[in-house]
Amino acid sequence: MKDKSNNNITQEVDFGYQRVDPSQKPGLVKDLFDRVSTNYDLMNDVMSAGIHRIWKNRMIECLQPYPGMTLLDVAGGTGDISSKFLKRIGGAKKGRAIICDLSEGMVLKGRNRAIDSAIFSGIDWVVGDAENLPLSNRSVDAYTIAFGIRNVTNKEKALEEAVRVLKPGGRFVCLEFSSSTSPIIERLYSAYSFLVIPTIGEIVAKDREAYRYLVESIREFPSPPNFTRMIEMAGFGGVNCMPMSGGIASLYSGWRI
Ligand SMILES: C[S@@+](CC[C@H](N)C(=O)[O-])C[C@H]1O[C@@H](n2cnc3c(N)ncnc32)[C@H](O)[C@@H]1O
Repeated sequence: MKDKSNNNITQEVDFGYQRVDPSQKPGLVKDLFDRVSTNYDLMNDVMSAGIHRIWKNRMIECLQPYPGMTLLDVAGGTGDISSKFLKRIGGAKKGRAIICDLSEGMVLKGRNRAIDSAIFSGIDWVVGDAENLPLSNRSVDAYTIAFGIRNVTNKEKALEEAVRVLKPGGRFVCLEFSSSTSPIIERLYSAYSFLVIPTIGEIVAKDREAYRYLVESIREFPSPPNFTRMIEMAGFGGVNCMPMSGGIASLYSGWRI
């Protein structure tokens, strides 16, 4: 982007530890998740020793689903949150989930996995951007985003979109990795993240670079107090941040006023 005096005024953004033009990031993120989509679910279980399932269950508890609820799960990937949501409310006839994800590969993988699990209805699969949701104003009761927001180029814009599509009184829940405030946990987690995760990525997903990005992107994400402030600044009320597993992940929640 150039200003009228032809000076370059573009603010580069992070893509892991690389700095890229903001216009490049969505394409890089999309390609990366298209690439890892085949082994994505297996990698989640291997990398976290299954702990991501516990975090996601806590996300559903925090969401407090009720029959008739329409959930928008942004960056919903292969559909973990939406499947848990439908299970909790008693099946596809009791509510509706919309998954909106940038990566067609992740959406296709998720849709096939849902069909394999005999989930034929209740979930709408949409390819779209968190910064420009293809939904009308005040159209959903709840908005979730699990391990997705740190990949979004303009996080403030994504939060603005969350406010726009939620009905007043709607629930916002975001699950994201964070840095632990315990120096011991942080040191152990850092060693595991930088030494072990890319190697697992290379062996299981044959993509070391993608999993190095994952680790770097966690480091680039705002601290829990700063991200909590961003959610409040977007206009949500009753914002809460709950650290999990020693602060390795955090669960943010709020209400659309
Ligand atoms: C780490 S995965 C998380 C998937 C799923 N929510 C889960 O917890 O397993 C991140 C997802 O965010 C999606 N994503 C990244 N940037 C996005 C954006 N701007 N809009 C929508 N989805 C995005 C990716 O395509 C990917 O599927």
